[in-house]
Amino acid sequence: MTTNGQPKGRTLVFNILRFNPQEKGDKPRMVRYEVEEAPGMTIFIALNHIREQMEPSLQFDFVCRAGICGSCGMVINGRPDLACRTLTTKFPEGEITLMPLPAFELIGDLSVNTGEFMRSVAERVESWIHSEEAKAPDLDVLEERMDPDTADAIYELDRCIECGCCISACGTLRMREKFLGARGFMSVARFMADPRDDRTDADWYEVIGDDDGVFGCMTLLGCEDTCPKDLPHQAKIAYLRRRMVKA
Ligand code: SF4
Ligand code: F3S
Ligand code: FES
Repeated sequence: MTTNGQPKGRTLVFNILRFNPQEKGDKPRMVRYEVEEAPGMTIFIALNHIREQMEPSLQFDFVCRAGICGSCGMVINGRPDLACRTLTTKFPEGEITLMPLPAFELIGDLSVNTGEFMRSVAERVESWIHSEEAKAPDLDVLEERMDPDTADAIYELDRCIECGCCISACGTLRMREKFLGARGFMSVARFMADPRDDRTDADWYEVIGDDDGVFGCMTLLGCEDTCPKDLPHQAKIAYLRRRMVKA
């Protein structure tokens, strides 16, 4: 019991991979920190506590603290997830290992550069509406209404926050450097579902019709298991594959 009569919280043990590639001679190492657990504590809150009270040089990313910006992805006890959405109570043994997301350039400690990869995906998929009208929009004409079910289907796939968890959980990406990955497949499915986009299946075949695209996916389903936004990876990848077989 504490002095105010509240039951004493657990002492959590954090083992964090520390490495600053920018610092000459620095080597990767695991460092142990102890943190008193507080009600409602997330990994993000614990990391802030460590940085404020023990280790000002600790690097990790965050912006929104609400599962929206996708910045705080990291490997938490072996599984890619968002630090701001993961409660410490999820780990009854009280020992938590944190590592940076693999598959991305390491900036330092738990901070990685997901931006470059996400940009390359957007460029490959050309993630904007392709149509004659989009090339020369007439601003005086009202946009055509969209059927609500179609809008919902597009919205579902647009919820991706580019956190990189699906990319880090994918074994195929370890083997094939140019593999588009689940984030890219969700983007392709999103534009295929959009009636304003004029791209045909033959056009899409040029983007995903090989082993760096949907035929390279080995259905490992790490994407489905780790996506914090529960995007329908399994169903959509199977759907894309069926369409590309017929293209
Ligand atoms: Fe993250 Fe899911 Fe988007 Fe992948 S598809 S980047 S796991 S939100
Ligand atoms: Fe990778 Fe997901 Fe396919 S984890 S192998 S993209 S099912
Ligand atoms: Fe934005 Fe975690 S800080 S998703």
